[in-house]
This record gives sequence, C-alpha cells and structure tokens, in this order.
Amino acid sequence: AIFGKERPNSQGLNMNIAQEARPFFAKLDSFKTTQWHAGPLIGGETRQSGDAIAVLSPQDQRKQVGEVHFANEADIQDAIERATAAFPAWRDTPVEQRARALEELADKLEANREELIALCTREAGKGLQDGIDEVREAVDFCRFYAVQARSLMGEHTVLPGPTGELNELFVQGRGPYLCISPWNFPLAIFLGQVVAALVTGNTVVAKPAEQTNIVAYRATQLAHEAGIPADVLQLVPGKGREIGGLLTADERIVGVCFTGSTETAKVINRSLAARDGAIAKLVAETGGQNAMVVDSTSLPEQVITDVVHSSFQSAGQRCSALRVLYVQEDIAERVIDLLKGAMAELHVGNPGLFKTDVGPVIDQTAQQGLLAHIERISKEGRLIGQTAFSDECEHGHFVPPTAVEIQHIGQLEKEHFGPILHVIRYKASELDRVINEINSTGFGLTLGVHSRNEGQALAIAHKVNAGNAYINRNQIGAVVGVQPFGGNGLSGTGPKAGGPHYLHSFVTEKTISNNI
Ligand code: SER
Repeated sequence: AIFGKERPNSQGLNMNIAQEARPFFAKLDSFKTTQWHAGPLIGGETRQSGDAIAVLSPQDQRKQVGEVHFANEADIQDAIERATAAFPAWRDTPVEQRARALEELADKLEANREELIALCTREAGKGLQDGIDEVREAVDFCRFYAVQARSLMGEHTVLPGPTGELNELFVQGRGPYLCISPWNFPLAIFLGQVVAALVTGNTVVAKPAEQTNIVAYRATQLAHEAGIPADVLQLVPGKGREIGGLLTADERIVGVCFTGSTETAKVINRSLAARDGAIAKLVAETGGQNAMVVDSTSLPEQVITDVVHSSFQSAGQRCSALRVLYVQEDIAERVIDLLKGAMAELHVGNPGLFKTDVGPVIDQTAQQGLLAHIERISKEGRLIGQTAFSDECEHGHFVPPTAVEIQHIGQLEKEHFGPILHVIRYKASELDRVINEINSTGFGLTLGVHSRNEGQALAIAHKVNAGNAYINRNQIGAVVGVQPFGGNGLSGTGPKAGGPHYLHSFVTEKTISNNI
C-alpha cells in the first residue's frame, strides 16, 4: 500500500495563522500549572511503588511538572508475566482490530494534542514547534503502521510450485517485546516503537527514558483507551542502569526495540547474547556524527538557514542533527560570517514561548558534558560564535548554541548531543578525503549536501555512508512514510522507522505445507 494514497500525513498546526493559533494557545495555557502523577501501569492499574520522585522542568528547576513512581522488581516480573500470558490471544486477534486500535489512538492523540505538547515542553524542554511536530509524528506512526500491518498480515501468501501441496506463508507476532525509548522524542519514538510491536501481534513492556515518564504514561493511558488491552501493553518507568538489566536478561522477552546511545545498544546486545534460551531480536536506532558538505556553487543564505535549523533546533538534541559542517574554502569566510550573524539573532530561553528558537538541554549531566566539550574544543580549535542567553535561562539546564572551527572530524571523540556545530574548511581537490573522513567515524545516520551541481551533490550523497541524505535543505525532521529514517554501522541496525520494511522486524514467518 502506498501511504500517501490511503492516509495523508497529519497536518499539525501553523502557529502563524491566527485563527488556528488562538484556540491552540488558549488550550495550551490551561496546562501551564497542571501537576501530573505517573507510575508503573501494569494490567491497566497505576502503581505507586517506591517513593514519589519530583519531576522538574529542564527549563526552570524551580518548577515542578508532577511526580513519578519507578517500577520495582515485583512490578517488572508482573509486567512480563502478564505480557507473556496475553500474547497468544493478541497474536490471534485479527490484524484489522489491532490496526483500528492504532487509528483510534491517532485520533485520541490529536484530541489531546495541547496536553501532550504542554508535557513535551514542560517535562522534556521541547519547543512549541517541536511539540507540534512530535504529536504529528506520533499520529503518523499510528496511521502508517496500521496501513502497513493490514498489507503485511491481512492475507497470507499461497506459493505456487512443483510439490503439488498447498504451500502457504504466514506472518505473525513473535511474543513479548521490550521497547526502550529516548527522552528526545518522548512521545513520537515511544509510540512509534510500541505501536509497531503491537499492531503486528506482539505484547509490549515499555520502558521510557527516565527523564520523560509522564508523556509516556499519558500515551499509554490513551493507548488503553483506544482499545489496546491492559495486559497487552505495560509501562515500567525506571532508570536504565537499575532496571534495564533485569528486563533484557529475562528470557520471556523475545525482542528489544531500542532508541538511544550506541553504548547502551551494545550493552543491551551483550545482555541478550548472554541469555540462555531463544535468540532475541534487537532493533536499535542510535547516534550519529552527522556532516553537511557545502561546495562553492551553493547559495550561502540558504545554507545558513538550513545549518542553523539542523544544528540548533531542538537544542541539537536529535540523532539526525548536524554536527560537522564541511565548507569549501572559496566560500568559507562568507558562510562563517553569515553563520555568526544568524546565531546572534537566536533567542535562547523558555521553550514554551513562541519567540524561542533554542530551549534547554535535558538535564544537568547533559549540560555539564556539553559545556566541558565546548571548553576543550574551543581551545583546540577557533571559536566562531556563541549565542548569548536570555534572562529566562537562569534556573535551567541551558547550553549556548556554539560554533567552533576545527581541522579534522577525528577531533570529536564521540557524538556531542547538543547545540554545538563544528566547522571544517576543505579545498575542491580534497572532496574524496572529506568523504573518507566522514565515513571513517563508523556512524552512518544523516548527511546534508548543499550544491547547485546536481551530479556532484548526488555523488556525495551516494558515497557517504548515511541512512538519510538531504540535498539543498535541512537534515532533520524525517517524515513518516515519506523519508523512512535510520542508519547503519554505529548508528543502528535498521530497518528504517516509518518505512515499508519496519514491521518485518517484529514478525516471525511460518510456512504450512498442506498435503491433505
Ligand atoms: N526522526 C528524527 C529526525 O529526523 C530523528 O532524530 O530528525
């Protein structure tokens, strides 16, 4: 099925159109001081295990968003047990019923859009546009995977051949899945993983990032309301370091869907490999050291708009974000000048305000790591520009958008997940070296190219190892069903989220040869 034909992408909302914006802001405002309470959701019941932990806003640590209870060992055992017991009936539920539940969930997400955006802003520090896009992407995942599941599982395949029997190929769910999602897309990626596993007939134990439990909790409640049976989807909030091992070591879990750092993906992989019993399947989407290559034929003004977007939107906290900008030396001075000017115009501050371009980073650990990197790399390289804070930044975890000129991508020992852009000049004769240098990182997620020479742009896009290459535009914000997203190497296992092959990783195949 072609996604676009059967189901258009969610349109979101245009904040610049007053008629749309006014009711949106009014509704959003009603969640300004709401206090949410979240906890393990097991068998449809919210548990209050352990102490209540205060959830504070990344933008202002004096402001509380609510509180959360983390799951304990008994909760986890119970969750896995229920997911295991519920599996056969859910696997055998007609795909149409599961797909309809996803569509119902999509409608519920849209109906609760303002609350979910308020949560993205207050709990995760995301900007308003990011919040709108987040809900839109979650809705798209639900509707897209519903369509995909119908076509993958709606009819089994009869295989013609010389044996004379009736040979049929079926696909079906595999068992209880563990979904471990990140804080940077606390709704879209959380739900993208969960609904892909559910619609294909698996049951799910979901462990959201420890920083964004409330969004995940509300999404789980909505999923239950939409018709996902309570025991089919369980939520176990907690710290990865404390409960991750318990979850991955459990042999009843047949597959893990993970989005987060490359290091954690390797830890999970090792834990799964050490288990006895069936071999578990791992789908991992991890980080990048994403580059953009700008040659001398490109238009500097357009380059700057796309660079600023790609590096600093979402405070650079996207796995797709631009980290290393290669500029051909003939236009480097002009591009760097424009970049400085554009960075000076950014408003760094409260992500809940329309005027804000760059909000906080997720927590203090992230902030300290990024600030330490800025200090080191600015000494090693040359500081190009740094955006000043507004007075809204005083009590939050902010990192100033920063651009630094360096010599070589190898100076970055790892991915720095924040608003830091590194710039490297290259000569026209060095293009092959640039391509090899980018490929030498071992990552393969996104690539940007700016050029008016189409042959050259396409050659770069093909030669650089990147799952998603973007020419003459920004390199973030892949659209479900249109730009399937995901990389390879250190960036993950594939298949691409929001693409036609994603659901294949959640099913098992069965051939019945019938000679009656
Ligand atoms: N899907 C997201 C993007 O394309 C991932 O970070 O930006």
